[in-house]
Amino acid sequence: MVVGVPKEIKNNESRVGMTPAGVFELVKNGHTVYIQSAAGEGSGFFDMDYKNAGAIILDTIGQIYAASEMIVKVKEPIAEEYELVQKDQIVFTYFHFASSEPLTKAMLASQSVCIAYETVEDDEGTLPLLTPMSEVAGRMAIQQGAKYLEKPVKGRGVLLGGVPGVQPGKVLVLGAGVVGIQAAKMAAGLGAHVTIMDINMKRLRYVNDVMPPHVVTEFSNEFNIRKHIKTHDLIIGGVLLKGAKAPNLITRDMLRDMRPGTVIVDVAVDQGGCVETTRPTTHEDPIYIIDDVVHYSVANMPGAVPYTSTVALTNVTLPYVAKLAALGWEKATQMDKALQKGLNIVKGEVVYKEIIEAFGWEAEVV
Ligand SMILES: NC(=O)c1ccc[n+]([C@@H]2O[C@H](COP(=O)([O-])OP(=O)(O)OC[C@H]3O[C@@H](n4cnc5c(N)ncnc54)[C@H](O)[C@@H]3O)[C@@H](O)[C@H]2O)c1
Repeated sequence: MVVGVPKEIKNNESRVGMTPAGVFELVKNGHTVYIQSAAGEGSGFFDMDYKNAGAIILDTIGQIYAASEMIVKVKEPIAEEYELVQKDQIVFTYFHFASSEPLTKAMLASQSVCIAYETVEDDEGTLPLLTPMSEVAGRMAIQQGAKYLEKPVKGRGVLLGGVPGVQPGKVLVLGAGVVGIQAAKMAAGLGAHVTIMDINMKRLRYVNDVMPPHVVTEFSNEFNIRKHIKTHDLIIGGVLLKGAKAPNLITRDMLRDMRPGTVIVDVAVDQGGCVETTRPTTHEDPIYIIDDVVHYSVANMPGAVPYTSTVALTNVTLPYVAKLAALGWEKATQMDKALQKGLNIVKGEVVYKEIIEAFGWEAEVV
């Protein structure tokens, strides 16, 4: 198969859909890989690295789309790319169709086959192509939180690890899912005292089994949250209710119970946030302060560490790319039920019912 990797042109996106290691694997198996010139630069991979791995470098995004049977990328195509998508072409990327009707209509009109990373779902109901980004965000939440606890940026002036003779900082993690566990692990590694809360006892039992003794679990309810926010320096929001807005576990009035300079990193901002005062911010302007509480709520945290994010993402996408290239989309999705769940649009037809529901469209779902 001929596989093409365009340079991402969405604002502030430095990740790339394939690393030289991915090119090497595909070329070894007899496929042709076209990489747009400079596509990997933002992630630290240069044209020469791709060439050495067996790729052919093309200059323009138009050439990539025109020459490829399958496009592998990171973000959904933006308006400038709509016209470039070819009839019968496979497009494998994050799409998030339910949040954009224009994108959905454009991909329907293109008669392409759109397979969305975010809906690939394994037997246990987990989303393997979303997990690595939650891992990145969870770990990064502590790095950012530690930074904004510093006094010059209006934090409490607390060093998370403490020093001999001084107590370490205290981190409260809401949600013991992928984000929460990675955050707890990083905070524990720095020597902070960590309290992690969830409503799922299975998750709390797991945390209790695998974490060191300075990571303690507590059932998540309003009473317990109100108790802990008074004494914790850094609060991480990592809750998720599948397909719904995150619950407001911290309400506006609760900010007054926190000590000045407390930092909230609301990773769940992309689902509305689990703090009432959360609003999305950007890497250029990541924080704001309400009632002396520092809020960090960047909606695309992994974007700040494109090398790590690209490698983490492509580690999990490559096996599916290889399968699609080897078998074609029809056979590959028949044989792999997780990949089949990724099919969103097939040649002018929506095949993922949540998209139809999101837009209130009446249509036959195959
Ligand atoms: N900002 C970013 O850049 C970024 C990056 C990756 C993920 N995220 C977001 O982070 C959030 C968490 O993702 P995840 O992969 O860890 O999800 P996950 O499903 O692995 O974990 C969510 C956890 O929240 C728990 N939960 C639900 N209600 C709760 C409550 N009332 N109190 C405490 N815990 C509760 C669930 O039981 C679950 O264990 C999602 O909204 C995700 O979209 C954001």
